[in-house]
Amino acid sequence: MQERTLFMIKPDAVRKKVVGKIITMVEHDFHIVDMKMKRFSREEAEKFYEVHREKEFFEGLVEFITSGPTVGLLLEGDNVVERVRKLVGSTDPKEAKPGTVRFLYGSSIRENAVHASDSPASAKREIAIFFGAP
Ligand code: CMP
Repeated sequence: MQERTLFMIKPDAVRKKVVGKIITMVEHDFHIVDMKMKRFSREEAEKFYEVHREKEFFEGLVEFITSGPTVGLLLEGDNVVERVRKLVGSTDPKEAKPGTVRFLYGSSIRENAVHASDSPASAKREIAIFFGAP
């Protein structure tokens, strides 16, 4: 089934200057429909990560994601949500499989290089926040 998802390169990976390398990995397997560099406001970051609002790491997560620009890629394809998450790897880079983006470029559970939507419903919500409502 054709789906869309948001793949986002986080501020740590932008600072490391590995945006090009990560986009090359994504482009090899996926169709990029749209792409944008964006620095989140605090309000947008809190909305984007609202499911984590009650977690103890929420404040640190919001501070980190607003600390510099991100790069968002809108991807489309069959079963793309699940397929992209395989390329991304585990949330904690220490647990990520070799060859995944987080294994290669993540530094810690917070500074884990990239984000990808975890379901088609999250993708719809996150794409609207990142790229604006269609
Ligand atoms: P992401 O895929 O962007 O979705 C939520 C983010 O919260 C996650 O990646 C991690 O960067 C972050 N996160 C999850 N668990 C923790 C944790 N225990 N400590 C700090 N950050 C976390």
